[in-house]
Amino acid sequence: MKKITALLIGAGQRGTNAYGAYALRHPDELSFAGVAEPRRDRREAFAHAHNIPDEFQFADWREALSHSRFADCAFVCTQDREHFAPAMAALDRGYHVLCEKPMSPEKNDILALADEAERTGLTLSVCHVLRYSPFFTAIKHLLDNRAIGQLVCIEHLESVGYWHAAHSYVRGNWRKSEVSPMILAKSCHDTDILQWLAGSECECVTSFGSLAHFNAAHAPEGAPARCTDGCKHQSTCPYYAPRFYLHHVNARSGGFISVLTLDQTPEGVMKALREGPYGRCVYRCDNDVVDHQTVQLRFQNGVHASFVMSAFTKYNERVINLMGSRGQIRGNMDKNMVELWDFATGSHTTIRVDPLAGEHNGSDDAMLSAFTALLRGEQGTENKTGARLSAKSHLVALAAEKSRLMGGMPVDMAAFAHEQ
Ligand SMILES: NC(=O)c1ccc[n+]([C@@H]2O[C@H](COP(=O)([O-])OP(=O)(O)OC[C@H]3O[C@@H](n4cnc5c(N)ncnc54)[C@H](O)[C@@H]3O)[C@@H](O)[C@H]2O)c1
Repeated sequence: MKKITALLIGAGQRGTNAYGAYALRHPDELSFAGVAEPRRDRREAFAHAHNIPDEFQFADWREALSHSRFADCAFVCTQDREHFAPAMAALDRGYHVLCEKPMSPEKNDILALADEAERTGLTLSVCHVLRYSPFFTAIKHLLDNRAIGQLVCIEHLESVGYWHAAHSYVRGNWRKSEVSPMILAKSCHDTDILQWLAGSECECVTSFGSLAHFNAAHAPEGAPARCTDGCKHQSTCPYYAPRFYLHHVNARSGGFISVLTLDQTPEGVMKALREGPYGRCVYRCDNDVVDHQTVQLRFQNGVHASFVMSAFTKYNERVINLMGSRGQIRGNMDKNMVELWDFATGSHTTIRVDPLAGEHNGSDDAMLSAFTALLRGEQGTENKTGARLSAKSHLVALAAEKSRLMGGMPVDMAAFAHEQ
């Protein structure tokens, strides 16, 4: 098997914990030949783990991409607004690209990147991990085999989880809509998977949503700016930061603590909460993204879908219900379970989806295995999340945001794609 070599741009959570970790587990398939990362601690830790020589360690992607090409592909794992420029530059240097989602929060950038991938003839895959998940692959297989006859409508729920919402969308990196509206940052995966399952392009979108709760109007009386400032509501507030970061099962297993600090002792975590953004009262942050949003989608083939994204759920999971002329499919991604009913025979089948090892119920690993196979030119491989396809579902998310801001007015996708 030809080993694929890569340049990592951005050695943060995704670059290190998803893609770096995969390369360490699959050294014959993928290895990192270079890293670009301004944070010295992260850069050196990554370079050490992957045996990257000094000359291929860079403090900025511009430096790395001004060097002549030294790997097969570049992984763009910077923050949302910093994908477009390095991805364009990497294509221009002759690298295939694996680009974190979203390609950009700007419509024109998204379309320009799709054009550039086509112009260069290089592979650009967007990290829409759900398309590679064993769970959604099983559902797609059932639909393609007409297991429920004609697909008529879809109900899809993205439960963000109250703790995950507080971490990422109230206190953390994705709290400002100027970075990315939440429907794009969190749910472009969902607009993408709905497009895939519907088997058609979206033609019209409407959306409602707001920041209903995480604002100053809902602060309990006398709540200080930080949970660590002796908040008297600590035993009753669901969002009390020390309880989450020190005791919640997801804080450690989901890698949330490593976002706060590299010192993960209780003392180190408390110091980060006293001094950093994650100890702030959720009612006293500078967040402005929504905490819930609904989207209605009409596809060209007549399928209708209704999507709900909400912060106010116990679990971080996706639950889907697909209704067809001859049957119904219901699934819970977190539980790796798909149920199928056949109206004619009355049969009910429960399918336990076997998650592969790794994050996102095996999706990250499946995506990387597909990406490296694609670059090796293996027979039967396809770019399931190419730039043009992903651009379409990114635009659906942006159109939903436009509709929400217009109070739920329908947005016609053909007109939206062309308007300046
Ligand atoms: N596909 C998925 O399911 C999924 C899941 C989570 C996050 N994401 C996306 O992945 C991206 C990265 O998220 P993250 O949590 O890893 O963020 P992060 O902040 O942990 O990592 C980004 C890294 O980029 C580095 N960086 C900044 N400027 C740079 C420059 N000029 N050159 C090189 N590196 C630079 C930062 O120092 C940081 O280490 C985001 O866009 C996010 O939306 C995708």
